Amino acid sequence: LSKIEIKLGDIPEGKNMTFKWRGKPLFVRHRTDKEVAAEEAVDIGELRDPQHDKDRVLNPRWVIVLGVCTHLGCVPIANAGDYGGYYCPCHGSHYDASGRIRKGPAPLNLEVPFYEFPDDDTVVVG
Ligand code: FES
Repeated sequence: LSKIEIKLGDIPEGKNMTFKWRGKPLFVRHRTDKEVAAEEAVDIGELRDPQHDKDRVLNPRWVIVLGVCTHLGCVPIANAGDYGGYYCPCHGSHYDASGRIRKGPAPLNLEVPFYEFPDDDTVVVG
């Protein structure tokens, strides 16, 4: 299927769920207020792939990214690593809770696919 529809009510706050989309893992993360505040406050001058959190999300509550490490394509682990977002165990890349690369060999942030929210409880990716 080229598009996937996900019900957001099934994903508790603070959790990341993994779906399969176009043969790849897709992460949908329901952020806490604390995570939103922390990611919005990051100085983008410190980032390897400088992107403000606001340019990576449509709604700060929800982070939607491909679960494919930008180093060599392993699947990162959610809620792990030094920045609390994602950790790729293959060679040790640490991503924050916006999916931005913070430490380790990966060159780029986790990719944000095209998506939209047709209503408050639904996201359609693709
Ligand atoms: Fe993720 Fe190498 S594939 S760190």
